Amino acid sequence: MNSNRTPLLAANWKMNHHWENCEQYCAALRENLPEYFGASADNPAVVAPGVELAIFPPLPYLSLIYRLLEDSTIFLGSQDVSRYEEGAFTGEVSSLMLSDVGCDYCLLGHSERRDMLGETDADVALKLKRLQQAEVMPVICVGESRAQREAGRAVEHTLAQLSELKDELGSFDLGGFVIAYEPIWAIGTGHNASPQDAQEMAAAIRTWLRDSLNDELADSTLLLYGGSVSPDNIRPYLECPDIDGALIGGSSLDADKYAQMARIALELAG
Ligand code: PGA
Repeated sequence: MNSNRTPLLAANWKMNHHWENCEQYCAALRENLPEYFGASADNPAVVAPGVELAIFPPLPYLSLIYRLLEDSTIFLGSQDVSRYEEGAFTGEVSSLMLSDVGCDYCLLGHSERRDMLGETDADVALKLKRLQQAEVMPVICVGESRAQREAGRAVEHTLAQLSELKDELGSFDLGGFVIAYEPIWAIGTGHNASPQDAQEMAAAIRTWLRDSLNDELADSTLLLYGGSVSPDNIRPYLECPDIDGALIGGSSLDADKYAQMARIALELAG
């Protein structure tokens, strides 16, 4: 972590949890992380703690979570957005609709969407434009397969994914997007990348931002690590100079574990 960037812990629920769990989850956060709660119409400016939290529930629960966390400084995110602006696209949800229901963030290009649902770099580029229009902050997921890592091509592949988005990324304001490095082989497997390898990749991404875009974007962009992060292993990632937080799947489903990770990040953020 670097004191110039506010760390982010993003909780990607994927297609998990139901209505009752949402209520229990938010109640547990309220109990475990009281410093994130207490905003009201009279007092909207509760000082946000030094670590940002964002929950990415399934789409139908966005409004419910928004309501349950309305008096908190915890952010809301979507797991996907349509590449289209509006119109006859059955089943799609536009970036402006996400903004309407209070979304601050949106995941893009998660490897589960790339591998299982055929999402391409070109789709991610279009979705980036849509999110920019709606002022919803993208969290762009990139990362290599096990075969690519074993072939020594992890950095090359990950930077190539970003290169496909260079024009769109260059048009964002400072701190206008987040990049999550998620090696595919580490997602949901319990085989996480070592903090050294994750730091090496984050440093390579930051250098790419500097060389391909500009110093200001390189210095302000949050870089997250994702892939089997848990309360037991999060600390050394957060201690890496170029890693500004985590994108957490499985462990974030348990509100107590998510709160424990937030506590560790808060402690490190000082
Ligand atoms: P995981 O998922 O923490 O369960 O590995 C991370 C992600 O896919 O975002």
